[in-house]
Amino acid sequence: MAKKVKTAFFCQNCGHESAKWQGKCPSCGEWNTFVEEILQDKSAAPQKGDWKPAGNVAEGKKTVSKPLKIEEITYSEEQRIITKDAELNRVLGGGIMPGSVVLIGGEPGIGKSTLMLQIALTLNQQKVLYVSGEESGQQIKQRAERLPFDSDNCYILTETNTQQIFQQIEQNKPDVLVIDSIQTLSSSLLEAAAGSVSQVKECTLELIRFAKETNTPVFMIGHITKDGNLAGPKVLEHMVDTVLQFEGDRHMTYRILRTTKNRFGSTSELGIYEMQSVGLREVSNPSEILISQRDGGLSGIAVGTIMEGNRPLLVEVQSLVTPSVYGNPQRNSNGFDSKRLNMLLAVLEKRGGYKLSFSDIFLNITGGLKVEDPAIDLAVCASMISSHEDWALDGQVCFAAEVGLGGEIRAISKIEHRISEAEKLGFKHIFVSKFNMKGVKQEDHNIRIHAIGKLEELTDYLF
Ligand code: TYD
Ligand code: MG
Repeated sequence: MAKKVKTAFFCQNCGHESAKWQGKCPSCGEWNTFVEEILQDKSAAPQKGDWKPAGNVAEGKKTVSKPLKIEEITYSEEQRIITKDAELNRVLGGGIMPGSVVLIGGEPGIGKSTLMLQIALTLNQQKVLYVSGEESGQQIKQRAERLPFDSDNCYILTETNTQQIFQQIEQNKPDVLVIDSIQTLSSSLLEAAAGSVSQVKECTLELIRFAKETNTPVFMIGHITKDGNLAGPKVLEHMVDTVLQFEGDRHMTYRILRTTKNRFGSTSELGIYEMQSVGLREVSNPSEILISQRDGGLSGIAVGTIMEGNRPLLVEVQSLVTPSVYGNPQRNSNGFDSKRLNMLLAVLEKRGGYKLSFSDIFLNITGGLKVEDPAIDLAVCASMISSHEDWALDGQVCFAAEVGLGGEIRAISKIEHRISEAEKLGFKHIFVSKFNMKGVKQEDHNIRIHAIGKLEELTDYLF
């Protein structure tokens, strides 16, 4: 077939298209990211219905849409598929939405394929087609053997050409489609290599069209680049309905599934898993694992409460404050914003009278979590004071307040949730802001609530 070959340059970082090569991408500002890709003539670009098998390509019927009054629009409450995986249900906003396209990103080896295979195997009411362009059938079978799930409704297809995939879909009519991974797919409508920006975009478009026309949910696994973004164009994230990030340190066993975009639910939800030799296990009570089992007596450890979505979590803050041996004291933080750490240090110096400017300070949030909730501030301060004084905090104490520049203890959101969570986990004392006490009654709780207004009051209480 004589094709009119058209080429264009694409930024491999953000997907910006340009007619000629450029050193710096005008859209994302990255250097040396333009690569020439072969496109087909625009007139042969895919039409509606192209996902159907070759030879049966329906002419997309043009329907003219008219504006409707909002009350005239009717819809039926779509039946979500509730999976056996409560963590996944939560991050998706209450189960799998029919016709939704979900992109799951994560570093290599983090467990994306394991998670999707596990979901595919537990959905035994639905026919699942797991399309893999990365592994052979035997490899997938081997992985499935390790997992404690079994399903006679899960089909594996090793194929990378989208037209071939849709042909199989037409015959097998799956209820759920899993693509592992979008970067391995290629459409014969384009000549560019698999994984290039134009192919990724095109294949995603075809999958979205398929999902919307057949109301079949599609899960796409996507690779991420070394700076943590989903590989391929940023537009990919705009195109799909839901973007999930699978995070965690590959060498640690905990994995976090985070929603970064969701058209069908909240984006602040979080699912926690533990990678075991038999696959990913849901962690339904994450606070227990985030707080290390310790015998007590260690200085520099304090427990704070954070909210991830609607869920309160208790996390452990560890710090090490030691006199600096080199000229410049080091400030290192893991899982906590280093600017905020510097701010809290300044507050401790100025308002608390602690001389920390000649100390090396290392701060770590255990469990590999990245905490943005300011309610952790008080725990961070308490842990640094504890390490500085080398005086261990009581293991039954936890903290839930923000610290302001004046050393004042500030109120935070959802205080009741946090207090109840701490109580549930057996803590006996919680320090909160006195401005947070409206509506909070000590007699409702089995945990002693200490309401304080200033940082000095904390040190008076504890040390
Ligand atoms: P995988 O799902 O292949 O990662 P991805 O698709 O994100 O690249 O995960 C592979 C890692 O998980 C691998 O290092 C082995 C480990 N693993 C387990 O620890 N237990 C298991 O039961 C399985 C299936 C994998
Ligand atoms: Mg994989």
